[in-house]
Amino acid sequence: MTSINLQSVAAEVRSREGLRVGAVVLASRYLVSPLAGYTNLAFRRLVRGLGGVGLATTDLVNARALIEKRPKTLKMVESHEDDRPFSVQIFGSEPWVMRDAAQMLQGMGVDLIDINMGCPVEHVTKNGAGASMMCAPEQTVKLAQSVVDAVKIPVTIKMRLGWDATQITAPRFARDFEQVGVKSVMIHGRTREQGFRGTVDREGIRKVVEAVESIPVIANGDMRNVEDVARMFVETGCRGVSIGRGALANPWLFSQLVQWEATGSFESGKGFDEWMDVLVRQFKFLCEQHGDESGVIAFRKTIAWYLKAMRVYPSQRDLAQRAQNGREFYEVVEQIKTTGPMTGDRNRLPELNIPVPGGPNAHW
Ligand SMILES: Cc1cc2nc3c(=O)[nH]c(=O)nc-3n(C[C@H](O)[C@H](O)[C@H](O)COP(=O)(O)O)c2cc1C
Repeated sequence: MTSINLQSVAAEVRSREGLRVGAVVLASRYLVSPLAGYTNLAFRRLVRGLGGVGLATTDLVNARALIEKRPKTLKMVESHEDDRPFSVQIFGSEPWVMRDAAQMLQGMGVDLIDINMGCPVEHVTKNGAGASMMCAPEQTVKLAQSVVDAVKIPVTIKMRLGWDATQITAPRFARDFEQVGVKSVMIHGRTREQGFRGTVDREGIRKVVEAVESIPVIANGDMRNVEDVARMFVETGCRGVSIGRGALANPWLFSQLVQWEATGSFESGKGFDEWMDVLVRQFKFLCEQHGDESGVIAFRKTIAWYLKAMRVYPSQRDLAQRAQNGREFYEVVEQIKTTGPMTGDRNRLPELNIPVPGGPNAHW
């Protein structure tokens, strides 16, 4: 891998125009990717509060469940004044359902709508209709158009490079989506067949950047630090980047990126105490939305992951898991803060890892 000069890439990125998606001007070119089960309102408020985020999106929302106003789905699209600009990611295959969902979201004051295209040829392959492949793009593009035409707010699309290495459809789709009024596309630089295996194909992302006329292409995949982002800018020509797992592993990454863009350098990672503060803040946001007792339950999966990654003693992790309300939770937090991590340096935590689903995934 060629080495990268962080100072000169920062200067080049700094000289560019800011990132706009349709009429929405973003505060930075650094976006948070949706991670179902993680990028909920509490996490979005947390990461935005740490600075540097240009845009954050909900987890994947089922458009039909939304128009049927199912309570769990309505909860997923709740937002807050700190959570702006706010994008909701929807999926569905019926144009009228997607259109109605988009109009409903617009009515609720959402700033942007993101369509999850997962892999745009999936439904054809699922039906075994390989020979009708040429029909699928039309349906897919029409679906996007029906959403675009139904609302005034910008519509964006997130997709992968294509079905597999022999069917890289993203450049063509990106161009077609632009023609029907989609305002930005985000590309996860892997194929559907790859799942989360291998590494992101930056050359593949570059081809999408080259395929569109003027809309911003946002690159996504495998960026964990400033250097990965700088490399993505250089090797793909993308206008912005979107970060998923790296945002959980280091929620300060966005403010580091903004600092790097402005100055060429940035402050390094945070230690145990800052992580504990982050955890408490996220818990508070969760309780604000769901109430104390539901907040504790909703936080269990996240807390298990955080505390293990932070090398907290198993007995204290167990106590945190068993807390029944806010008071019990804060008591454990105080104990954990006093004890610190089992091993390693309190000021430098090891990198946190996020589990990925095995095998191909229809949407992500
Ligand atoms: C646990 C998990 C949940 C995800 N949920 C979604 C989702 O709801 N919608 C979506 O478009 N992508 C989803 N993705 C894909 C991510 O947005 C992103 O494209 C992928 O993780 C690659 O980026 P990263 O390396 O920065 O994480 C998910 C990925 C993971 C690991």
